[in-house]
Amino acid sequence: MSRGSRTLHQLIYASRVRVPWPDQQREVDGIVQASIRNNRVVDVTGLLLVHDGWFVQALEGPVEAVLGVYGRICDDGRHEDCRVLYAGPAEARSFEDWNMCARHMTPADEAILDTLSMKTVFEPHRLTAKQALRLLKAVRGVQQSTQLRALG
Ligand SMILES: Cc1cc2nc3c(=O)[nH]c(=O)nc-3n(C[C@H](O)[C@H](O)[C@H](O)COP(=O)(O)O)c2cc1C
Repeated sequence: MSRGSRTLHQLIYASRVRVPWPDQQREVDGIVQASIRNNRVVDVTGLLLVHDGWFVQALEGPVEAVLGVYGRICDDGRHEDCRVLYAGPAEARSFEDWNMCARHMTPADEAILDTLSMKTVFEPHRLTAKQALRLLKAVRGVQQSTQLRALG
């Protein structure tokens, strides 16, 4: 069945890193590897933002697949306080290029936080659904331009 022929579901949540990891990059790389492997099979795409002890992640795809993946993520002891910021239909995929892609905030990305008045204290649990999607789409834009620069 081709993408888009079923109702598209999107879920955005925020959670806290449970314990500070000695090697955060390695841990996140492991999460992304597992995510790409699993999400590809069930046609889920998304983006994972890691910043200041928080995760913000978007998952999109068929509803049963998104809920299945999210259920597994919630059971993962590496984070806690999962709070859904948005769950519902979406007209189109926002992160179709990635079965999962993780990005740590860089100073360039932090300009995005300015627009959400979160530069001093990052509190993603307070984001509205619209703000959360805006944040992740802005991060997507930076990630895509980084990839283009790497290619060119
Ligand atoms: C913040 C966070 C995001 C995650 N995102 C995904 C995801 O999108 N897809 C996925 O399959 N696993 C994700 N995981 C990992 C799952 O919790 C779980 O470890 C993994 O799905 C197990 O896969 P495996 O049985 O193939 O090793 C995430 C974990 C964390 C902590």
